[in-house]
Amino acid sequence: MSEMNRVPPGVDASRPSPARMYDRYLGGTANFPSDRDAVDRILELVPEIRDAAWANRGFLQRAVRWMAERDIRQFIDLGAGLPTQRCTHEVAREIRPDARVVYTDSDPGVIAHGREILAGVPGTAVIEADFRRPGDLLGHPETRRLIDFAEPAGLLIVALTQFIPDSDDPWALVARYVDALAPGSYLALSAPTADHTVARKVDRIVEVYATSTIPSNTPRTRAEVGRFFAGLAIVPPYRGAASELTSAGLWGCEDPEAAESDGSRLFYVAVARKPKAELAQPVKPTVEQLRIDTSTLAWRRSTDGPGGIEVAFAWITSEEWVLLRLHGDPDGRVSVFSRFEWDCFLDGVRNGEFDGAAF
Ligand SMILES: C[S@@+](CC[C@H](N)C(=O)[O-])C[C@H]1O[C@@H](n2cnc3c(N)ncnc32)[C@H](O)[C@@H]1O
Repeated sequence: MSEMNRVPPGVDASRPSPARMYDRYLGGTANFPSDRDAVDRILELVPEIRDAAWANRGFLQRAVRWMAERDIRQFIDLGAGLPTQRCTHEVAREIRPDARVVYTDSDPGVIAHGREILAGVPGTAVIEADFRRPGDLLGHPETRRLIDFAEPAGLLIVALTQFIPDSDDPWALVARYVDALAPGSYLALSAPTADHTVARKVDRIVEVYATSTIPSNTPRTRAEVGRFFAGLAIVPPYRGAASELTSAGLWGCEDPEAAESDGSRLFYVAVARKPKAELAQPVKPTVEQLRIDTSTLAWRRSTDGPGGIEVAFAWITSEEWVLLRLHGDPDGRVSVFSRFEWDCFLDGVRNGEFDGAAF
């Protein structure tokens, strides 16, 4: 932890800032009286918010560790906050000492403080960028220097989307960042919810944040948070759990009963994997639709494979299809390969696995 003992240029200390309020929940000292007053007003009615912040920070750290254990060596931490409580590079480097991390935030105080703390830490950068302008971050020279977009990366969007109102379409923004990543990358995202909290508590939180430097604060429903993971494969949050959103404390836990609390339930979280790029699947015609004139097919016999297979080629509306005939099949059945199988087959051909592969 480190003290915020002077006001950095561009920082408005008279109004609470969400980054410094969060630092205060976590017991940090990088905050000012306006932040402490705002936090006190919330704690008066929602004492579990401290626990929620810890559960959320714990989720971030467990998710980073989990990704590093799966060989993720580069991370983009959006809305990273003040680097006062075990940061992403510290956690990742316990597993991957060469891990690289780009931290970004829109709060000038976070940037000033972050640069001070991370100055001279190789393989890290602190970039001032607004989440709503993905191009600024993705095209930034420091991002390009540290992140290889051809390799899987860990994208962290933790306790940030509540500051992006629906009118700015946070779902499209998250998708824009995910699109830039290589298949095999992971997204870790957490977002606060009002699903389990009485209205007067939620109103107090929203009311206090409305006086802050980022006045918009939108808790979201389970379905709304789930939409951030569209097109991604959510991983099971803990052993034996279904692959779905969970509360912050449960993610990566050993004992779900002990890990759950009112604070934990203030956040929905998940980690999800970006799948391999889908190849456009041509509509798979039936054999009848193909109306194949077998006399026009060029058969080639494979030299290996179970039972020895024969393959044939057909051209249908400019799509090239490969057909497979199994030796000894009593029905002489012909099945059409999928596009994926087609690509695997071509790989086999290129690797010389078939006879007479001169096509
Ligand atoms: C609650 S803190 C979360 C910090 C950290 N991600 C964590 O979960 O431990 C939210 C952070 O999001 C940042 N933030 C809010 N709106 C932002 C925006 N439009 N662009 C970038 N950062 C933003 C705030 O400045 C703050 O540091």
